Amino acid sequence: MQLVLERCTIRPWRLDDAESLARHANNRKIWLAVRDLFPHPYTIQDAHEFLQRTISEGLAMKFCIEIDGVAVGGIGVHPGEDVHRHTATMGYWLGEEFWGRGVMTQAVTAVTDFCFENFLLRRISAEVFANNPASARVLEKAGFTFEGCLKSDVLKDGKVLDSLLYARTT
Ligand SMILES: CC(C)(COP(=O)(O)OP(=O)(O)OC[C@H]1O[C@@H](n2cnc3c(N)ncnc32)[C@H](O)[C@@H]1OP(=O)(O)O)[C@@H](O)C(=O)NCCC(=O)NCCS
Repeated sequence: MQLVLERCTIRPWRLDDAESLARHANNRKIWLAVRDLFPHPYTIQDAHEFLQRTISEGLAMKFCIEIDGVAVGGIGVHPGEDVHRHTATMGYWLGEEFWGRGVMTQAVTAVTDFCFENFLLRRISAEVFANNPASARVLEKAGFTFEGCLKSDVLKDGKVLDSLLYARTT
């Protein structure tokens, strides 16, 4: 799978992405917006482990965001199970030096379209911490609908936060 877009390319992760992955992912501002599963500090060892795990999963829908030939971000689609097997959730991050150029809006739109076209999915959702208006804006621009505010849903960095639920359906 490779999606060549105007502002970036979406492609599978490769083992040789480790150095650039660690460099761009090692950012507290990114960590504050994502799950605690995402390491901080993000070391080269974390990058090697993530890449080995992801590549060995084979069918994993976890993709690299590449700009100018370098891995600078990630976008992952996580399929639901059981009665949620026609749904998926999405998560994403981008290296700070590339923020504000419309990269993630394009990436989220293209990956969502790709998943609806190629998998038996009827719904893709994403949850944004309520203190992250930039990510909420990305989802709105990518055609996601705001479905509601989940009160006190998240405990991040010692603070209880609401999260905002967005989804696109077919
Ligand atoms: C959130 C993130 C993915 C955005 O990526 P990006 O490529 O900069 O996003 P885009 O440039 O496509 O769009 C950003 C939009 O948010 C807007 N925005 C930025 N900061 C904002 C703020 N503080 N308040 C409101 N809107 C804001 C921008 O103006 C832009 O909207 P516009 O095109 O209408 O002007 C990126 O900042 C990031 O990786 N952050 C850390 C990790 C993260 O938040 N992941 C998502 C977890 S749900």
